[in-house]
Amino acid sequence: MAEKIIIDTDPGQDDAVAILLALASPELEVLGITAVAGNVPLTLTQRNARIVCELAGRTDVPVYAGCDAPLKRKLVTAEHVHGKTGLDGPVLPEPTMPLAEGHAVDFIIETLRREAPGTVTLCPLGPLTNVATALQRAPDIAGRIRRIVLMGGAYFEVGNITPTAEFNIYVDPEAAEIVFRSGVPLVVLPLDVTHKALVTGPRNQAFRDLGTPVGKAVAEMTDFFERFDKEKYGSDGAPLHDPCVTAWLLKPGLFTGREINVEIETVSELTLGMTVADWWGITDRPKNALFIGDLDADGFFSLLTERLGRL
Ligand code: RIB
Ligand code: CA
Repeated sequence: MAEKIIIDTDPGQDDAVAILLALASPELEVLGITAVAGNVPLTLTQRNARIVCELAGRTDVPVYAGCDAPLKRKLVTAEHVHGKTGLDGPVLPEPTMPLAEGHAVDFIIETLRREAPGTVTLCPLGPLTNVATALQRAPDIAGRIRRIVLMGGAYFEVGNITPTAEFNIYVDPEAAEIVFRSGVPLVVLPLDVTHKALVTGPRNQAFRDLGTPVGKAVAEMTDFFERFDKEKYGSDGAPLHDPCVTAWLLKPGLFTGREINVEIETVSELTLGMTVADWWGITDRPKNALFIGDLDADGFFSLLTERLGRL
């Protein structure tokens, strides 16, 4: 029985690869894609999500537009990483599939109320504004969500947008606090693990060697997307942050982590958006998240490449 998921996303080249991996995998049933403002404004993230669905030949998957700004703060975007369109790299046609009617938050609430309790997983790949808004507007859905598997945060790796905060959490820390305190089972893929999923030259070449439009587009996306991390960290390729969420759902055995307490800094300007992860169990705060620290990178890339080859 395929796991029913909703992908909440701010494409973003790495979001695009995460979506493609999900659409290529029969173990997952993508009920819908909900776009949120993040890497680029909402008008672009909802456009980019539709471009990715068309690239995958999956215009049957509804794409909804969601929140265009964080709960309480001004939107911070990341064109410096993802380019002006948010999907720079490949030249892809404008989408022709229409945006689905209605707000993404209503889609999340209605879907969770319609599907059997404990059967739908939320996969946030961007700021948590849509998910937090749904939880605030319909508290009853918290008990109906199977689990939330999200890309966000950092502990040993610390920040990528400030010295202490990872982008998705930093953009909407109040939303993150709502999600991390919701009591919903959480699996967190932080920079600690995603910075180990690097698209090295041979891995990029393997995408090209697929000889398909998807393989070529993914190679071009990751070629573009790697500049920021190469300059900043001297990384040996682009870190595939968001695809770690999809891969964890498909093969959790590729990853290792700990059930720990994770709280969100929402007050201090200095450390705003920090995921304060009690990795060493120093406090008696409730263990609210499976916090992933490591992965089998070769296993991850062979899974990803094989699945992309199916599109
Ligand atoms: O910090 C990395 C995260 O921020 C990824 O989800 C990337 O797509 C951006 O949204
Ligand atoms: Ca993202």
